[in-house]
Amino acid sequence: MIQLKTSDEIRLMHRAGKLLAACHRQLRRLIRPGVTTLEIDRWVENWLSARGARPAQKGYLGYPHAICASVNDEVCHAMPRDVPLKNGDIVTIDMVVELDEWMADSAWSYSVGTIGREARKLLDVTREALYVGIRAARPGNRIGDISHAIQSFAESHGLSVVRPFIGHGIGQRIHEPPEVPHYGSPGTGPELREGMVITIEPMLTLGNHEVKIDADGWTARTVDGSLSAQYEHTVAILADGPMILTEQNEARKNRKNMDSCRN
Ligand code: MF3
Ligand code: CO
Repeated sequence: MIQLKTSDEIRLMHRAGKLLAACHRQLRRLIRPGVTTLEIDRWVENWLSARGARPAQKGYLGYPHAICASVNDEVCHAMPRDVPLKNGDIVTIDMVVELDEWMADSAWSYSVGTIGREARKLLDVTREALYVGIRAARPGNRIGDISHAIQSFAESHGLSVVRPFIGHGIGQRIHEPPEVPHYGSPGTGPELREGMVITIEPMLTLGNHEVKIDADGWTARTVDGSLSAQYEHTVAILADGPMILTEQNEARKNRKNMDSCRN
């Protein structure tokens, strides 16, 4: 059953989301050549606990870290490592923040130093695909409208949508119904209703959409070795449209401005 949240509950989730967004904004400055993803992991855990929050991925299904840190051809769920990031890498940092028992989930892809043209295009199109999906997240639409909007936008730019990993409802648990695929047909799936809170988190690749899981049981990477990026927001469905609970960019917070600015 899809649990609808009250406006008070959405306010609490928004508090978790604002903290998560502020944490990502700090990471922009921290991420550079020479930093290891394990250092980023420790920094995030300390930063959150100093603010009374908990990294909710830690301990979830036995996952041992505060963040997932997926580099280059790694698609998602890669563990932080004691390996320095290199100039030209891209890295996706994914985390769930729990504050006063309510959660928010947001992943962001970062460039490390100076990246190539294709990598730049991947980041730009994937981030825009997230916002294209969010625009379809309004009452009366269906989940499939979000899915289709993302898939058609991504494929029109020659990129592929990863299939096994999808968005989800979220609240006091990380994963709740409904499932939110990033590919599919318009007019299908559950109807979006006021009070639903979901994540939208497209993973796109420069190659095809096939992924495999490493022997560690967590890391997903592209089969063809192509680069992959991911952007994720937690989004509340309100009567007048989507409200992003994890927005980092002031200008994007005004829904009417969503079309007109870039991060
Ligand atoms: N943030 C991830 C998601 O969007 C959750 C990862 S679970 C972990 O579903 F255990 F890998 F951290
Ligand atoms: Co998620």
